[in-house]
Amino acid sequence: MPIAFEVRAVLDVVARDGGLGGLLLAERSVDAPYLKNYDALDGGPAGWAARFDVSSWGLLVARSGRRVIGGAAIAFDTAGVEMLEGRRDLAVLWDLRVAPEARGRGAGSALFRAAEAWAAARGCRRMKIETQNVNVPACRFYAARGCVLGAIHRFAYPGLPHEAQLLWYRELAPAE
Ligand SMILES: CC(C)(COP(=O)(O)OP(=O)(O)OC[C@H]1O[C@@H](n2cnc3c(N)ncnc32)[C@H](O)[C@@H]1OP(=O)(O)O)[C@@H](O)C(=O)NCCC(=O)NCCS
Repeated sequence: MPIAFEVRAVLDVVARDGGLGGLLLAERSVDAPYLKNYDALDGGPAGWAARFDVSSWGLLVARSGRRVIGGAAIAFDTAGVEMLEGRRDLAVLWDLRVAPEARGRGAGSALFRAAEAWAAARGCRRMKIETQNVNVPACRFYAARGCVLGAIHRFAYPGLPHEAQLLWYRELAPAE
């Protein structure tokens, strides 16, 4: 299932007064839209099991009838996964993707809610999500699902100097 999306706009990170006045995200349309494909950069889901112990991870599938239209992966309690910060009360929404023809019809929201429930059931108090300033639809999607922006790292990707890392956090209610 492709994760690729078209970049039509980006969120420029503006450092006011060199950063003393805070960082501002300013949306800008790109002159020449382009396709961004995370899988082409890191090999995608097929490579996870070789890189990490995924035995504690959650894998969720969205179906429409018998057709698979989306999926999500949640990293949890896994040594060597820096994003987890060595904490057991934090889960990372490692991957979320909906088939291009099925986007915008609620599958992503359903997967997100299921990921929240999965993490809360394991005692997590927060879910963390990494995205980039070139993925404006995902940023808007996470903000609309109750996530707050916790960190902007402008220099996280030395190989992609025009991209900034954005870390979103969703507070989770304790599971019943
Ligand atoms: C981001 C993604 C998972 C959302 O899934 P989805 O099934 O399209 O989302 P939904 O149909 O549940 O839409 C939820 C909301 O996001 C908005 N939205 C989703 N995709 C959008 C897009 N491409 N452009 C604008 N808005 C979008 C919807 O309008 C909707 O708005 P609302 O919050 O006002 O209801 C999906 O677009 C996708 O697979 N994108 C490519 C992969 C990707 O970027 N993954 C995240 C990596 S961090």
